[in-house]
Amino acid sequence: MKKTDVIEKDSYVIRGGNPLVGEVEIGGAKNAALAIVAAAIMTDETVTIENMPDVRDTNVMLEAMQGIGVIIDRVDRHTVKINGSMVKNVNIDTENIKKIRASYYLLGALLGKYKRAEVPLPGGCNIGSRPIDQHLKGFRALGANVDIEHGIVEASADKLAGAYIYMDVVTVGATINIMMAAAMAEGKTTIENAAKEPHVVDVANFLNSMGANIKGAGTDIIRINGVEKLHACDYSVIPDQIEAGTYMFAAAVTHGDITIKNVIPKHLESITAKLIEIGCEVKEMDDQVRVVSSKRLRSTQIKTLPYPGFPTDMQPQAGVALSLSEGTSTITESIFENRFKYFDELTKMGANVRVEGNTAIIDGVVRMSGAHITAPDLRAGAALVLAGLSAEGISVIDDIHFIQRGYEDFDCKLRSLGAEIESVSGEEEIKKFKLRAV
Ligand code: EPZ
Repeated sequence: MKKTDVIEKDSYVIRGGNPLVGEVEIGGAKNAALAIVAAAIMTDETVTIENMPDVRDTNVMLEAMQGIGVIIDRVDRHTVKINGSMVKNVNIDTENIKKIRASYYLLGALLGKYKRAEVPLPGGCNIGSRPIDQHLKGFRALGANVDIEHGIVEASADKLAGAYIYMDVVTVGATINIMMAAAMAEGKTTIENAAKEPHVVDVANFLNSMGANIKGAGTDIIRINGVEKLHACDYSVIPDQIEAGTYMFAAAVTHGDITIKNVIPKHLESITAKLIEIGCEVKEMDDQVRVVSSKRLRSTQIKTLPYPGFPTDMQPQAGVALSLSEGTSTITESIFENRFKYFDELTKMGANVRVEGNTAIIDGVVRMSGAHITAPDLRAGAALVLAGLSAEGISVIDDIHFIQRGYEDFDCKLRSLGAEIESVSGEEEIKKFKLRAV
């Protein structure tokens, strides 16, 4: 297993201005993989998961699972075998797990299988208040007692019984978590106002491959008939919609021409639509999309919404493109209240943005210039890299550990498209890059 405590570089240094051109291969979806590896422990048989992204969040999750006795065998970089027959306790107690949001999936998985779980309250990117009331409401509806003591969520039940659960907000995490717990509950569960994101469908497909009986994933109503036992399966994680979208916007902002391979174009429709609106050409093929950006981008309006709306996880990347678009654009962030912090960094690069409540009003500038900036979270960090690639001169982006949570080989993939980007530690390495880049 890959350890997450190896010494890693702190910053990216970028000399911007090159149009990105070429082909890039997209990996497995981080947010699907996180739930799938948790769900894999619900059988005592060995499950094989392919197309696993090798990113920090999934590696932290696998390490935490090892901590409770799950046998993890990383067959190769993107294949992992998981055996949950030796789980020795249901109490997840590692510092690591608090760093990631998806630790809450172990609640649904352990509660479903063992009818008991103790998991520290989840961490994750600081993008808003991120309550888990809907998860807990769902577990309680299935018959579990749920308490939060000293930062630990404790859930237990003599038995779980199917129930009707109406979600007060559309939530990916709670939909998946309740689906997992209900998969092994007695009787029928209905989740109404369910999230419809591609990774919700992927987790349902995975659970069904293990013998669960889940219907309707991808619609507002998910119906689950509980089964007694789940079994082994081989499963391949869907391609990462957000990684793909990030490279699509990289083509847009650098006036490049990128073919993004191993994607499901249907999952990218809202992103494709906005890129076309701002003046890019997007060609969809079976499992590829090509984005060509040959003229000044145009302004537009974006509002983030649950799938199939425009994803909140693509909002910062779009914010960089609109900062460079002709005219005035607006972005309304309707999912998380704290996802505009990156505009402070973009302002240092010359962007012209005013934030009013949950709306950003952006007056596009012709170009931005390199600056020393800091990644505030995962997607905003990736967006700032795009800003650096599009800008004149050199940018240094600190705190790239956020970006490494969700992008595999980000700098390598960008270099293969013609970007001048390196990961560095300390002033000396930055200076060396600058000398090479003159
Ligand atoms: C998932 O977070 C993703 N994380 C996020 O990706 C993504 O931004 C988000 O879904 C929306 O698509 C993982 O999959 C690990 P939600 P999650 O529950 O599950 C409110 C990234 O960059 N809500 O769909 O935490 C919540 O406050 C990350 O990869 C409640 O009110 O998001 C938000 O407004 C960042 N009560 C809305 O629902 C609850 O119990 C949607 O949140 C749960 C959520």
